[in-house]
Amino acid sequence: NVTKEFTQGLPKSELHLHIEGTLEPDLKLKLAQRNQIDIGQTTIAEVQKTYQYDDLASFLEVYYPAMNVLQKECDFYDLAMAYFRRAAQNNVRHVEVFFDPQAHTSRGVAFSTVISGLHRAVVDARALNVDATLIMCFLRDFSKESARQTLAQALPYKDWLVGIGLDSDEHNNPPLKFARQFEDAAAAGLHLTTHCDIDQKDSLEHIRQALEIMGVERLDHGTNIVEDPDLVDFVAQRGIGLTSCPLSNSFVSPEMKGKEVLQLLEKKAPVSIHSDDPAYFGGYISDNYYALADKFNLSRQQVIQLARNSFTTAWISPEKRDLYL
Ligand code: ADE
Ligand code: ZN
Repeated sequence: NVTKEFTQGLPKSELHLHIEGTLEPDLKLKLAQRNQIDIGQTTIAEVQKTYQYDDLASFLEVYYPAMNVLQKECDFYDLAMAYFRRAAQNNVRHVEVFFDPQAHTSRGVAFSTVISGLHRAVVDARALNVDATLIMCFLRDFSKESARQTLAQALPYKDWLVGIGLDSDEHNNPPLKFARQFEDAAAAGLHLTTHCDIDQKDSLEHIRQALEIMGVERLDHGTNIVEDPDLVDFVAQRGIGLTSCPLSNSFVSPEMKGKEVLQLLEKKAPVSIHSDDPAYFGGYISDNYYALADKFNLSRQQVIQLARNSFTTAWISPEKRDLYL
């Protein structure tokens, strides 16, 4: 059966990981001190006490203010390097890291500061045997105009990016709001993904827009797709990945969307397991695999299939994919 050692030892690809969501309480306190910012807490226990949320909106209310401690290039570097060390311990061989530039530029931090610190860590991750790339996300609760400006800031750095994503508050912010920016990003050679968070208002409509109109190549979460068997066939046939995050889901839904993951595996839709915001949801990628395997009694074969899916749906060259599979 599946043990913690097994999920840890398995080579994995991490495709749904928000770098800002890896800000552990100890680093948060260290950066607050370094940048002389009063975050209202001075101990790890006090920071942890603020981690109270039961849906996406209440989570985001804790998540964004915490980012104030990220100010300088070296803060973004330290954040990302701390994560890459965790990734190496978890046998993550390949990672596509989400970041939210607007969460920083809206506070007066320069775009170049954010991306330079993250990119420097991406380069240094190679020494840890972690092959890392960056996915820039637009905040969907910000305006289209803000997304347009953010893409314009990013394009000079496009060689440092592998793709574009969409995150933050999904309520009344459908993927189509950003159709133009996604089109422009694709024209610049970037891959496309979008969050379709679990059990949102209009979930299925958002999934449909993303797949049928915007041509996204993956869906983040996206497990509500099981409500429409035709769409499940669509992603299975085209190899469009669904990146499910059990521990993050567990804050909203006690079953962690495990039944949906099993249904997708059954239909040969390439679902895979990831960590979302591990510093906030109680575990890194191996913990997410283990939580799901333990609750749903998955076989080793099923767990191996989930890990294989994380490589088949990664944005890597066929040669690299062959190395991993
Ligand atoms: N930002 C960080 N994590 C997120 C999630 N799971 N959904 C939407 N926005 C996010
Ligand atoms: Zn996410």
